[in-house]
Amino acid sequence: MNKKGFIFDLDGVIVDTAKYHFLAWKELAKSIDIDFTHEQNEQLKGVSRVKSLEKILAWGNKTISETQFKALMLKKNEEYLSYIAKMDDKEILPDVPKILNYLIQKEQPISLGSASKNARPILEKVNLLSKFNAIVDGNDVSNAKPDPEVFLIAAKHLNIKLENCIVFEDSVAGVQAANTANMISIGIGKKEVLHEADYIFSDFTEIENSFIQELINR
Ligand code: G6P
Ligand code: MG
Repeated sequence: MNKKGFIFDLDGVIVDTAKYHFLAWKELAKSIDIDFTHEQNEQLKGVSRVKSLEKILAWGNKTISETQFKALMLKKNEEYLSYIAKMDDKEILPDVPKILNYLIQKEQPISLGSASKNARPILEKVNLLSKFNAIVDGNDVSNAKPDPEVFLIAAKHLNIKLENCIVFEDSVAGVQAANTANMISIGIGKKEVLHEADYIFSDFTEIENSFIQELINR
């Protein structure tokens, strides 16, 4: 049987955690007198925790000590985890299980490819962990997207050639990472934002099983 490697980003693709990242960053920014907007939050999609805090400090024209930086990172994550603790399978984005189940039925290998260090607990909370053959997340990489490292490791775990991997991503950095890895990139979100992707859909309800089957047959 034809096998392709299907790699999914987590935040914004499988679950909408951007709203929780926003609340946690907003609270943190407020505590150091920095204003934080929804537009800025958009720019943090796919961006690692360290890089996100660096950006927020730059927007607010603030410099802090390394000790304070570490403390703020911890504080943000504690706040974020308090939202995650309340998550359940209702927070899975529409038709994600439909696509995952189709891939499983067709015996296609599936990996997560996320920048988040909280990926495993989130997948557990929404009851999807068992659908994945491999989990590659922020704990496994040293280079953040748009560096392709996370997807290269995922392909290796799945034992699938790079050009036979398909990546689902909602962030520009993620789409760029997939393209650099020579994988097929599928943008989930707005066309104006994700125009570098090979295919773009606003969400998984727009993706038919026949489209997935074509990818498998390629
Ligand atoms: C994803 C999100 C980012 C987040 C990053 C790290 O890429 O889109 O907004 O900053 O993961 O997440 P973490 O859970 O490790 O803080
Ligand atoms: Mg994402």
